[in-house]
Amino acid sequence: MIFSTSEKDIAAAADILAHGGIVAIPTETVYGLGADALDAQAVAGIFRAKGRPADNPLIVHIADAEDLDKYAVATPEAYRLAEAFWPGPLTMILKKRDVIPDIVSAGLDTVAIRCPSDPTARRIIRLAGVPIAAPSANISGSPSPTAAKHVIHDFADRIDGVVDGGPCERGVESTVVSLVSDPPTLLRPGYITPEQLREYLPRLHIAQAVVQQLPDGEKALSPGLKHKHYAPAAYTTCVTGPAEHAARCINRSAYGYRDICVICFDEEKDMYPGLTVITYGGADDPAAQARGLFTALRTADAHGADRLFVRAKAYDGGVGLAVYNRLLRACGFNVIDAQKQHMTKVLGVTGPTGSGKSMLLQLAAENGCATISADEVYAYLLPELTDDIAAEFGSDILDRNGAICRRALAKKAFSCPEATARLCQITHPAVAQAVKERLSRLQDEGTERAVIEAIALVESGLSAACDLTLTVYSEYEVRLRRIMNRDGLTREQAKERIDAQKPLDYFISHTDLALLNDDTPQFKTEAVRIISRL
Ligand code: TXA
Ligand code: MG
Repeated sequence: MIFSTSEKDIAAAADILAHGGIVAIPTETVYGLGADALDAQAVAGIFRAKGRPADNPLIVHIADAEDLDKYAVATPEAYRLAEAFWPGPLTMILKKRDVIPDIVSAGLDTVAIRCPSDPTARRIIRLAGVPIAAPSANISGSPSPTAAKHVIHDFADRIDGVVDGGPCERGVESTVVSLVSDPPTLLRPGYITPEQLREYLPRLHIAQAVVQQLPDGEKALSPGLKHKHYAPAAYTTCVTGPAEHAARCINRSAYGYRDICVICFDEEKDMYPGLTVITYGGADDPAAQARGLFTALRTADAHGADRLFVRAKAYDGGVGLAVYNRLLRACGFNVIDAQKQHMTKVLGVTGPTGSGKSMLLQLAAENGCATISADEVYAYLLPELTDDIAAEFGSDILDRNGAICRRALAKKAFSCPEATARLCQITHPAVAQAVKERLSRLQDEGTERAVIEAIALVESGLSAACDLTLTVYSEYEVRLRRIMNRDGLTREQAKERIDAQKPLDYFISHTDLALLNDDTPQFKTEAVRIISRL
């Protein structure tokens, strides 16, 4: 059942809660899966629905700060924090009063209490007339829900209802601080920052588990810290470091995944051509990142990505600490610093057909660079692509052995831009992936410099993997003659082929440098100068 925030709906939702039901409610942080905190049986239903380990205690939500002492032993410190931050995204761990059933606190003698600021949450709690125990309303281990549709996705009809209060204002769960430890300890960072807390708790200690992986077997102060969390289905890596370094790093990894997805900062959305890109806030706006993070992780899942990179900043304070803490758990502490990675310097060479690109590749090899020719990769891959290409262009492009006759294919595919585009749709992704795999291997081997040559450097997304890109071009007449000689074509056929391709302007406007190949010694000198600029 989906409830709106109308008086009538809220009263109905509160009534279900008052009678032992389970209803998901919006809060300013994330949606909570609520039940009457004083009813052990109702609370057991939360653990069942979520698949939550029994040793992970729940937060008790109250509508009014004055109720604090009813359920926990309030200390002067607790009152000061309540005064400063409630209602709001702060949870305090205090000694538990007996009215709170053991199941809520997972057998501990402490209890987590929070007074949310979301007006809908507070109205529901007030109307229910009982404190509400509520963990985040997601299946254990998956990203927290920041919209009603996330809750519905995870639970469908397995709970009694969801109150749809729209997207959550803050987007990460509350800050959890323990006041029973000495010194007081930040167990989970959230929207209320360590800096804000230190004004009231000068001795505040930050639990080791906030940004570090706990050694096996070590006891967590907060049971929630030891469980795997927020994990998307894809194999996930967080990449820190400057935007350009990170983009090179990510754009070069391919290793045979079906669908690579990048979650990045808003400003970086154009740095990953050819990959699925999801943004989650401005690079310098941790509050926006906090709002966008869980939706981004869920979107990557919905997209079916099997490899996920998340751009991250290693914040050590502020709201950003909460974002970083969630990301570390989402990727299982699999973080790479792009700035510290060994990166092969890569020059990408492109240009229209017949411009003499391969001459540049030869010069590169003579000057100590590793080289990759996309055309060679294409020839190597062709057997694998045969079925797809024949399905598109007909079996008369096959020779007697069932292999593709490159000449027959070229005749059909390079006769007009539309046919060329159809071939490219089949070949570009496969070639780009194979080139990236070779590049990753060179990188792993510690290669210093490499040159890639590809006519579709830009369209296939390969240029994003390069440090520098260059268009090599020649005069029309020169190109015509080169193609006629190379491929045994008539003048007319050679013209047709040139005209089916992207115009020179396209190449030049999408690369860093352009160089006229007029076959002179000056051309070679200039080409070597560019290569050595790497
Ligand atoms: O923003 C939030 O806090 C959301 C909304 C719904 O209020 N709730 C939430 O609940 O995030 P949950 O269950 O997903 O996370 C509660 C965290 C867990 O890490 C849990 O281990 C910790 O609080 N916790 C609860 N009771 C505790 C206790 N007595 N001692 C130490 N940690 C406790
Ligand atoms: Mg949770």
